[in-house]
Amino acid sequence: MEKMNGVIFFCLCLWSLSGVFGSQFVSVMEGDSVVLSFSLTEKQIKDGIYWKFGPNKTPIAEMINYRTTIYDDRPDGAFKNRLLINHETGTLTITNIRTTHTGLYIITNRSQNEPLNIFNITVTRLPVPVITRDPTQCSSSSSSSSNCSLLCSVLNVRDVSLSWYKGNSLLSSTSWSDLNTNNISLPLEVEYQDTNKYSCVVNNTNTKQIQHLNITHLCQTCSVKEVVYCCRSFTEVVIQLVVSVLVGVAAVGFVVYDIRSRRDEEKKMRSDKPH
Ligand SMILES: *[C@@H]1O[C@H](CO)[C@@H](O)[C@H](O)[C@H]1NC(C)=O
Ligand SMILES: *[C@@H]1O[C@H](CO)[C@@H](O)[C@H](O)[C@H]1NC(C)=O
Ligand SMILES: *[C@@H]1O[C@H](CO)[C@@H](O)[C@H](O)[C@H]1NC(C)=O
Ligand SMILES: *[C@@H]1O[C@H](CO)[C@@H](O)[C@H](O)[C@H]1NC(C)=O
Ligand SMILES: *[C@@H]1O[C@H](CO)[C@@H](O)[C@H](O)[C@H]1NC(C)=O
Ligand SMILES: *[C@@H]1O[C@H](CO)[C@@H](O)[C@H](O)[C@H]1NC(C)=O
Repeated sequence: MEKMNGVIFFCLCLWSLSGVFGSQFVSVMEGDSVVLSFSLTEKQIKDGIYWKFGPNKTPIAEMINYRTTIYDDRPDGAFKNRLLINHETGTLTITNIRTTHTGLYIITNRSQNEPLNIFNITVTRLPVPVITRDPTQCSSSSSSSSNCSLLCSVLNVRDVSLSWYKGNSLLSSTSWSDLNTNNISLPLEVEYQDTNKYSCVVNNTNTKQIQHLNITHLCQTCSVKEVVYCCRSFTEVVIQLVVSVLVGVAAVGFVVYDIRSRRDEEKKMRSDKPH
């Protein structure tokens, strides 16, 4: 136990000496550009640095004495045309990042291979937008209109545009920068009978996600309920009323008839009884 404490302490010592107090966690969306900031000292510039990526710590960029080299010719082509390195600061920029670029990025000094900083980058897909029917519409009194109000939304996103398309033409659009929330939504009003193809698209500069609108599925659920509600309350109530009146009349008639016939029978029996 004491030995282990010693080892941990030793590691922490090395860590703090090397200036690495823990990795910087960065979460980005696919298609974004990511800037791994660094500010090299004169000594580090002379000695040179490496940027390394992944579990095998593969070098992806190198810099020595203001001369930079990009290793984007990996066999898998993973970083092809995506890397930029600032020859004064050492800052690395990854453009149009993909989910396969998730992992650890380490900047090390060249001669001693000591980590100067570690970036833990997670790349996630843009979420597919969700189309819902305006929930107030089904219950509101204006629901008698032949229109269906829809809302397309996407949650927890940054630097994106959200748009409605009718076929290939843009109907409306909103951008994340217009708002101060990470949740974006955009309304659309369509007629129930509309047979055009509508879609809601979320995009950043390099990627997009599409949700196609199914008017039948989204709009008619509520309108069918309305029709059912309307017709039951109108016709069925009348029928029910008529039926219950008829049943009531019949019941009263039967009771009256029953009482009368019983009385008659009693009378008959009494008069029949010999005194
Ligand atoms: C390499 O980095 C380590 C940790 O920051 C530092 O102690 C060492 O002096 C550096 N080596 C050179 C040659 O700059
Ligand atoms: C990077 O961060 C993710 C999310 O916090 C974490 O699950 C993962 O273990 C980290 N990776 C490393 C090597 O630290
Ligand atoms: C975004 O939506 C989620 C889920 O509805 C919610 O938890 C979160 O608070 C919302 N964030 C903002 C900034 O409105
Ligand atoms: C119904 O939607 C159409 C567009 O689809 C719009 O032109 C019209 O004004 C809307 N009508 C009502 C009553 O909101
Ligand atoms: C989304 O795509 C449109 C058209 O391709 C583009 O003009 C817009 O800048 C993109 N949005 C973002 C946030 O990059
Ligand atoms: C639209 O929704 C309806 C009802 O849920 C379904 O029967 C139909 O297959 C859907 N159409 C498409 C193109 O997904």
